Amino acid sequence: MLDVNKIRGDFPIYHSDRLFVYLDSASTTQKPQVVIDAVSGYYSAYAANIHRALYEIGDRATDAYEQVRIKVKQFLNVPETHSVIFTKSTTESLNLVAYAWGLKNLCQHDAVLVSEMEHHSNLVPWQLIAEKMGASLKFIPLSDNGTLNISHIDALISSNTKLVSIGHQSNVFGTVNPVKEIIAAAKNVGAVTVLDGAQAVPHMTVDITDLDCDFYAFSGHKMVGPTGVGVLIGRTELLEAMDPFMGGGEMINTVTMEKSTWNDVPWKFEAGTPNIAQVIGLGAAIDYLQSVGMNAIHDQEQSLLNYGLDVLSQVKGLTLYGNADDRGAVIPFNVDNVHTHDLAKFLDTDGICIRAGHHCAQPIMDHLGISATARASFYLYNDKNDIDLLAESIEKTARIFN
Ligand SMILES: Cc1ncc(COP(=O)(O)O)c(C=O)c1O
Repeated sequence: MLDVNKIRGDFPIYHSDRLFVYLDSASTTQKPQVVIDAVSGYYSAYAANIHRALYEIGDRATDAYEQVRIKVKQFLNVPETHSVIFTKSTTESLNLVAYAWGLKNLCQHDAVLVSEMEHHSNLVPWQLIAEKMGASLKFIPLSDNGTLNISHIDALISSNTKLVSIGHQSNVFGTVNPVKEIIAAAKNVGAVTVLDGAQAVPHMTVDITDLDCDFYAFSGHKMVGPTGVGVLIGRTELLEAMDPFMGGGEMINTVTMEKSTWNDVPWKFEAGTPNIAQVIGLGAAIDYLQSVGMNAIHDQEQSLLNYGLDVLSQVKGLTLYGNADDRGAVIPFNVDNVHTHDLAKFLDTDGICIRAGHHCAQPIMDHLGISATARASFYLYNDKNDIDLLAESIEKTARIFN
């Protein structure tokens, strides 16, 4: 087990004496001092633009930024460094694929396959592009236990299916989806494969070479990194064949009044001044997670998940949702006669932060026939006492409302 007290010592937000039970890491995570130092270190010691400043601190900033690309490659076993594109978020990464790949490659009668479980970030961009291109959207159905029903996957994927985009781990149920089977089925018809890894990269060892997908997206802020930085990993030959997503400085090779040519991949997709400090902070976040160990983090979360399910299932009037065998440390629930927003507000008075709402996954709520759930999600700085305090506070709140 991880030494949670020692880990909390790394996170300044835990340094005050007030009770702080943070159970919303699926939304965003707390930041260790090393990440904060990496961001402020850039601003205070070598703030300069990258790839253009002809002085020492510019070289230093460029080098620090490009080193993070190599770090991401090594962290996730990506075949090529040039496959790593910095964006501002998972949302931007998925939009990049939808627009830059979709506008060029989708036609009328083509189909894009997603699932009923997707975060809106992996649904709305495909709705926009499918409508524009006259393509249709198809869905892998959700089962009541919070897993994807892939028993008829071959019937859902046909020669018209040009792209399949699936969440690696659900932000609502924590379900780890059978992405390798889905990728294999997509490859049978030559479809391009995209994985939304926003909830996976922070919590498990992800191996891009082994997954063999064409695109993979994730966000820095969900893995103890800064907000404002995300990553898109793409297969180089697909990236090279795509048009740019955004135009501006840095992404060009030559520009005349009439026409421009493009920079090489990955810079073709990094228009304008990027989020330099945030990318450098992401590098520090990767170092930090690796120093703790991804397997150790995963084991700790699994033990919290099992304990949390056990404790919460004993709370009177509490309904749990989802029970996938392969599942990350995310627990959605509702409490009889207590609106989720009231519950979150009452828990907050006890110093407990949970998420309440539709979790940017309204189709899941529709499937469950509810409008919202409460959600507790765990990370490396949580312990079993957090779960005991959560259960106590829920019981107290339920007594008030009932
Ligand atoms: C599964 C999943 N995909 C995509 C996103 C969007 O991430 P971001 O808001 O960092 O773009 C989230 C955020 O909660 C998520 O959980």
